[in-house]
Amino acid sequence: MRYLCNFSTDDLDKEYYDVVIVGSGIAGLYTALNLDNSLKVALLSKTSLDENNTSLAQGGIAAAIKDNDSPRLHMTDTLRAGDWVNDEKAVEVLVNEAKENIANTLEIGINYDRDEEGSIVTTLEGGHSRRRILHAGGDATGREIHRGLMAEALSRDNITIFREAFGVDILVINNRCCGILVEVSGRKRVFYSRALVLAAGGTGQVYDDTTNSRVATGDGIAMASRAGARLKDMEFVQFHPTTFHCGEFKSKYGRNFLISEAVRGEGALLRNRKGKRFMEDVDGQELAPRDVVARKMFMEMHKEGSKYLYLDITHKDREFLVKRFPTIYTKCRDIGIDMAKDYIPVAPAAHYMMGGIEVDLMGRTSVPSLYGCGECSCTGVHGANRLASNSLLEGLVFGRRIALDINRTIGDTVMETADVKFGKLDVFHSLNWGNIISRIRKIMNRKAGIIRTVEDLSDARDQLEDILRIIQKADCQASYEMEIRNMAETALNIVKAALARKESCGAHYIIRQGD
Ligand code: SIN
Repeated sequence: MRYLCNFSTDDLDKEYYDVVIVGSGIAGLYTALNLDNSLKVALLSKTSLDENNTSLAQGGIAAAIKDNDSPRLHMTDTLRAGDWVNDEKAVEVLVNEAKENIANTLEIGINYDRDEEGSIVTTLEGGHSRRRILHAGGDATGREIHRGLMAEALSRDNITIFREAFGVDILVINNRCCGILVEVSGRKRVFYSRALVLAAGGTGQVYDDTTNSRVATGDGIAMASRAGARLKDMEFVQFHPTTFHCGEFKSKYGRNFLISEAVRGEGALLRNRKGKRFMEDVDGQELAPRDVVARKMFMEMHKEGSKYLYLDITHKDREFLVKRFPTIYTKCRDIGIDMAKDYIPVAPAAHYMMGGIEVDLMGRTSVPSLYGCGECSCTGVHGANRLASNSLLEGLVFGRRIALDINRTIGDTVMETADVKFGKLDVFHSLNWGNIISRIRKIMNRKAGIIRTVEDLSDARDQLEDILRIIQKADCQASYEMEIRNMAETALNIVKAALARKESCGAHYIIRQGD
């Protein structure tokens, strides 16, 4: 069904903006900040302003800012990690425009970590041939970037920020996007706009095990697809190798706690349950690209029959660990692990969607006046496996490009405000939404994970189609019901794309049963 609920715009309160942005992470905020001050902008945050994947980013943001580095080297590393299926033009844009956008963030007031002389310090992560990861607050890079961008956005008179604003569905009139149906604090409203930017984040919550924030339920991708936008590369789901293995912690926060790749960048080693290393024979060892490390861990866990392995950084002293990784050190300590003495129990979990809404180099989707930015979009920069710390950078580079495109073209765009109606859905009182969500997550964890088979994927597709057959007929009353339908649609898109790609490539690893 085209919409998540029955509605008629005639019956709803209406607001009018030049630009509406869905999402309050780095991509949404930075787009907003680069729009002309004369444009009236609405920025929608699904829950509280800081509940997003940006705020959770630990490791950092990649940029070739040091003398021994260059955009060319950054490009080669990005392509190699992406298994050479990246869009080369998009990668070129990403690496070439990195430095100027980092400079803009400094102007905005973001504080990256510096040495005693005041120079920005950089670290190493998997797949990088140079130390080019800028970080902040040790391991709280996303939090600092988000703080700086949000403070600036809140100070701008032309930007109105809405909390608890759930983007329901995109309105399309005469084949052009003309706004969005929104639920703000439980009440539906229509936001008409001349341009709509989806910066609605990732999809990790369709898996049982994920590092992603609770809000990462694929809403942007699902609503764009319902509105007729093309999707791309949905089979490429990145699994982060090292997330803290602790069920209790996960149930409290709805996600697995991340142990940043930067910990391996500072020399941490992976060990099996007997304490033995198993990455020594792999090119790049612990700092091989993420897909390679996650797969090797998966196989080691399978061999051992265990649910987790160990990360060992006990060769570093406590003073270093407390300063360099304050967030991780404290979380581990609270759970009873002393990083300076104990191995950390870790396991891979879903972390990042490389695919998403297909966009061009200016962030334009296949639907006129609809843009996509950040994790929900697919510029092609990440190919089949994202290079560590390229995601925050993508949000900056392409967020600015979208803003520049809107600044240039919006004068020629008229606001379309015709009535839109939909009334084909039934009220289903008997649906057990809680049960549906756990079914979706179990299916995805078991059948569309790090190692896939055609048989598992076909079974996942059949089960998800069964679920969708029922819930697609339901008039979703509450935003959590809408989220669950978005999750089911997103999960099915991942599985169908995975079935369509017959050969392994980057994070999509498919074997024939019996191999
Ligand atoms: C990490 O700190 O390991 C995550 C950074 C990223 O996803 O690029």
